[in-house]
Amino acid sequence: MYSRIIGTGSYLPEKILTNHDLENMVDTSDEWIRTRTGIVERHIARDDQTASDLALHASKNAMEAAGVTSKDIDLIIVATTTPDMVFPSTACILQDKLGIENCPAFDVQAVCSGFVYALATADMFVSSGKCRNALVVGSEIYSKIIDWSDRSTCVLFGDGAGAVVLSQSEQPGILSSHLHASGNYSKVLSVPGSISGGKVQGNPYINMEGNTVFKFAVKVLEEVVEEAIAKNNIQASDIDWLIPHQANIRIIRSTAKKLGIPMDKVVVAVDKHGNTSAASIPLALDLAVRDGRIHPGQLVLLEGVGGGFTWGAVLLRW
Ligand code: UT7
Repeated sequence: MYSRIIGTGSYLPEKILTNHDLENMVDTSDEWIRTRTGIVERHIARDDQTASDLALHASKNAMEAAGVTSKDIDLIIVATTTPDMVFPSTACILQDKLGIENCPAFDVQAVCSGFVYALATADMFVSSGKCRNALVVGSEIYSKIIDWSDRSTCVLFGDGAGAVVLSQSEQPGILSSHLHASGNYSKVLSVPGSISGGKVQGNPYINMEGNTVFKFAVKVLEEVVEEAIAKNNIQASDIDWLIPHQANIRIIRSTAKKLGIPMDKVVVAVDKHGNTSAASIPLALDLAVRDGRIHPGQLVLLEGVGGGFTWGAVLLRW
């Protein structure tokens, strides 16, 4: 028994914030943001929208593409760093919005690697026969945890959601998954604040040592892709599509170059929505599926890195 993605979906909030808009908010320039990150614009959720709202749109799109209804879903995993509330989980809230009455539902917190972690977890349930159709979602509203006066972080992130339906299959879909974490880097990228005594204690905004994250990301992404390649006895040239976490075009290019993968085999969407953390990989996947780039039988490699630090990859046959 294997698990296979049978449908993808995504959602970006209507409001677009361009680099030029940011020029009016902090001391930055369109030129700096484009050349240092590749980002041109990002989407911002309305004040009344939550991660589960974005997840709902993306999930409905994925379920429609998969040809399944709410009744068919028997597992929900939501990867998010920006949950609707402390509890219940965003997955439980999404389950209610989808009208699903009883199935396991839980969140995965692995920051920008969250979708890879969630997909790898869902694969365990589906390929072992415990579930038939898992809904796996990455949904984030980073605009709520950004300090909009901090130019070193506010230009980088955006809001959005992506989802897939992962189903039982006799043909291999997911071939292998590779997950890692190193908690001794936890202070390099964090939102250190917490809730206690009815108040937020500490800093509730993103705190990041950009250069350290950059170097670490390029190093571990190369390593984890090499790990997936070795495990499956393939060459980097066998990969038809690399779908990286969309944080920075320079990280994406450096990783592809180190691996010898040409950029025309790399799906890039960072220009359109910036870093959407756990949503970025399923957003890029859905883009490439819907525009017809990804064909049945092709080898697709998803890879991500994020706060924790966490990092990982999933190799699959489409
Ligand atoms: O998903 C994982 C999460 N995070 C990431 O993946 C981020 C990884 N890191 C990065 O993408 C890059 O390190 C950044 C885009 C954050 C920064 O790029 P950089 O090439 O590493 O720039 P830097 O931090 O070395 O800063 C260079 C200069 C500094 O000025 P000085 O000290 O040289 O005078 C910054 O103050 O750029 C300045 N700067 C800005 N200038 C205009 C920082 N942010 C901005 C800005 N606009 N928005």
